[in-house]
Amino acid sequence: MSPVTAFGPGRVNLIGEHTDYNGGLSLPFAIDEGVMVTATAIDGDQVEAIAYDLDGEQDAFALADPPRGAEDWRAFARGMVAELGGAGHPLVATRLEIAGTLAQGSGLSSSAALEVALGLALLGLAGDRDPDRLALARLCSRVENDWVGAQTGLLDQTASLLSTDGHALRIDFATMEMTSVPIALRDWRLVTVDSGETHSLATGGYNERRAECAEAAERLGVSTLSEARAEDAATLPDPLRRRVEHVLGENARVDETVAALHAEDLDAVGRLLDASHASLRDLYDASTDAVEATVQRLKDAGAAGARMVGGGFGGHVLALLAPDVPLPDDAHEVTPGPGARILPDEPDER
Ligand code: GLA
Repeated sequence: MSPVTAFGPGRVNLIGEHTDYNGGLSLPFAIDEGVMVTATAIDGDQVEAIAYDLDGEQDAFALADPPRGAEDWRAFARGMVAELGGAGHPLVATRLEIAGTLAQGSGLSSSAALEVALGLALLGLAGDRDPDRLALARLCSRVENDWVGAQTGLLDQTASLLSTDGHALRIDFATMEMTSVPIALRDWRLVTVDSGETHSLATGGYNERRAECAEAAERLGVSTLSEARAEDAATLPDPLRRRVEHVLGENARVDETVAALHAEDLDAVGRLLDASHASLRDLYDASTDAVEATVQRLKDAGAAGARMVGGGFGGHVLALLAPDVPLPDDAHEVTPGPGARILPDEPDER
């Protein structure tokens, strides 16, 4: 049984933020940075794991019964093994080597990249190299919810597993219908800049927003906020009213962005990014002083649009730069790359 190495990319969500768990629309793409996991079969009935980028921290647990209670990367490894086993996937005793190029808490979805790489490597080693990707995304999301304690939606895992090179993925979370949308940037660039403030989805305002959205949906008698009517939302007390307004506006902006991308109208994309940020800040209260300062700095530097990306409450800012705008020193260019994959076997060096 030769080792299997899988790569899970992080993602940038071009637009459509805090809509996934509200049955709405998002438009993410996979990036080149991500997490790599090599799974090697070992004797016995254990899983051993080592995280190279975390000073070689290690874990070991029973394949058949991974213990709960870990609060760091170990929760992902244990959770993935437990959920895959629980879903009936035959797994084998394994050594997992984890290495990544994505900072945790960056808003570029290091968590989903790790879950997805673990899933593909564990399944691949056990002989399943072509699993149902949507089912795997759902399983990864359960790990996030039940093992890590972040009530996140399906955006990150779906983007990591199902994106295609050079395209954004329009996802309708009401139906899980997906459409690839070409991103023709010509000489424009998409960049991310770290706000310097890390976020934790498990402890930050994220779960609070989810609870508010659930409450608003219940009061309006709809199963998700994307089904709400604007005139009904207006009857809700603050802040619930603003939360619904954000979701409805953001869904509309996703399709306006799809139209702008098809028309190759990047100025319009920039304006939509700005509008998304204003909504996340003013209606969703998901921004922070550090994020605001970063957005302002990018706008001052000439960005056509800039917005917080991912769960918010810190993390990264995404900006769109026209060709004549210089790249700020700490900006990192992101390009739409392929989705998660098993890497070809290393050539035998002997
Ligand atoms: C995080 C979550 C996603 C999504 C975004 C906000 O990235 O993991 O499920 O809710 O925040 O759009």
